[in-house]
Amino acid sequence: MNDFPDLGKLGSQSKLVFLSGAGVSAESGISTFRDSGGLWEKHNIYDVATPEAWRANQDLVLEFYNQRRKQLLQVEPNAAHRAIARLQDYFKVEVITQNVDDLHERAGSEKVMHLHGELRKSRSSVDDSLVYDIDGWEIKKGDLCEKGSQLRPHVVWFGEMVPMIEPAQELVSQADLLVVVGTSLNVYPAAGLLHAVRAGTPIIAIDPAPLDLDHFPRTYHLREKAGEGMQKLWLKLRR
Ligand code: OAD
Repeated sequence: MNDFPDLGKLGSQSKLVFLSGAGVSAESGISTFRDSGGLWEKHNIYDVATPEAWRANQDLVLEFYNQRRKQLLQVEPNAAHRAIARLQDYFKVEVITQNVDDLHERAGSEKVMHLHGELRKSRSSVDDSLVYDIDGWEIKKGDLCEKGSQLRPHVVWFGEMVPMIEPAQELVSQADLLVVVGTSLNVYPAAGLLHAVRAGTPIIAIDPAPLDLDHFPRTYHLREKAGEGMQKLWLKLRR
């Protein structure tokens, strides 16, 4: 195990980049994907989160994301989201999230990049540049974009490109500290972002479960839930 990195040199001009995953929203009451009882235990990825699924059964795909959206409207940001947002008062903070929820934004984070899209937006199924805010929780069959095609969830499905990956790599390469919170690091290209840090940049992973960090040898693993882990990190950063 690596030692906890020395954060003493970080100041107001330092860039803290957070890479978050489903675990950061777990304490808000949103299920993760791969934990026991997680979403991918209850739903088959290939039935709800691929372009093939969309072609085969739009009703099922719309319903899956409508239910996720309905739940999102009933939950609140938690202590971890809030701690990340509060760090903006002391550092330059950028958040790259794999989550499609908007809890970082609602906690007050100003710079949030969504790698896998945004649940509260819809998109044309013929023109990716046509993206709309969803009023309420539902995309209904028959809701059309201005070009007349069915609206789909504005999320990245398995088998689709991740358009934000290059800007995300660029951000990580500028980081003075990379903090990885609540992701199993199972999904690429997001997990590969850890390789984009500059030589010598510390990486801290906050996650209660064991992580396979063999590929990322300079990473310190704080084995805590996001709220508790962020509290510990906060104390180290503010000392
Ligand atoms: P996973 O479900 O794969 O991993 C969630 C991680 O959160 C695990 O490592 C858990 O140990 C950890 N965790 C659970 N509770 C936690 C807590 N209270 N605090 C901190 N960590 C906790 O979710 P992701 O890694 O985000 O993509 O999954 C990546 C992508 O796979 C998602 O964006 C989604 C999914 O399929 C798409 O849908 C395209």
